[in-house]
Amino acid sequence: MSAITSADIDKINDILQKNKTLPGAMLPILHAIQDELGFVPDESVPMIASALNQSRAEVHGVISFYHHFLTKKPGQHQISICRAESCQSMGSGALESKIKQRLKLDYHQTSADGQYSLSPVYCLGNCACSPAIRINDDIHGEMTMEKFENLLDSMVTFNLELK
Ligand code: FES
Repeated sequence: MSAITSADIDKINDILQKNKTLPGAMLPILHAIQDELGFVPDESVPMIASALNQSRAEVHGVISFYHHFLTKKPGQHQISICRAESCQSMGSGALESKIKQRLKLDYHQTSADGQYSLSPVYCLGNCACSPAIRINDDIHGEMTMEKFENLLDSMVTFNLELK
């Protein structure tokens, strides 16, 4: 189970109250929870099931069907590597191996310090600049390990500035 706060529970209850009567309410509710908390915590599953009069298995089924929904709190920096055709043809396979080694992470994992999460993505709409990756909301094209190391350095600087 992920640890969420009572304030998070209040936010989930608010979302349920506002959305539960919508037609097809499950997806808007899941999106709203992820937008608010950054993920869909395990604790929300029975709450959603009860609000929508559905089983927990049905809620789990929808969450696991859509890769968009995260069930664990993501890292501060979410790194996605494009695995679609154009990026593959431009070497994203080798790049992803090196990035995984560098971060000591596999896909769908978060570093122990909570800094980085790694995920695959299938086309970032940046095919002309393959291989592409996304870090949080920014897309970076023509990616190399050297460029990635520079981006990591800038993330470390950003983290220090936050402290
Ligand atoms: S295939 Fe990677 S951005 Fe389109």
